[in-house]
Amino acid sequence: MSKRIITFGTFDVFHIGHVNILERCASLGDTLIVGVSSDQLNFSKKNRNPIYDQESRVKIIQSLKFVDEVFVEHSLEKKREYIEFFKADVLAMGDDWKGKFDEFNDICEVVYFPRTPSISTTEIIEITKQI
Ligand code: CTP
Repeated sequence: MSKRIITFGTFDVFHIGHVNILERCASLGDTLIVGVSSDQLNFSKKNRNPIYDQESRVKIIQSLKFVDEVFVEHSLEKKREYIEFFKADVLAMGDDWKGKFDEFNDICEVVYFPRTPSISTTEIIEITKQI
């Protein structure tokens, strides 16, 4: 049976850490489904608007060869619904989320990958502001 992987993120100002996590997620199975945070959800999580709007971020993620399905994640509270709706066998996230999604162990396998060191969207924005 084919194995379905789901992951979530904002993926704003797309960078190598994003490529690495998506590639690692894809390597766990056959189909990779990515939930991209809506602009509103990103604002509520990070207290700032993303640089790229949700439509652009979805388009960037859809263009990757190891991504199969993309949807907009509107609410953090709906994780369980999304996992069930997309029939995911595995939920995979970067280890900045370690432990945070263990509650979903009853419906899927939960995997955390180490983050790519020394790069994040927030850091890129901060550095760019200083130039
Ligand atoms: N990620 C990663 N390595 C990095 C940056 C992000 O593995 N260096 C992973 C995160 O763990 C998450 C996914 O990429 O699973 C999307 O993270 P996101 O929050 O969109 O990216 P960040 O660069 O962490 O953004 P920010 O700095 O705004 O928190």
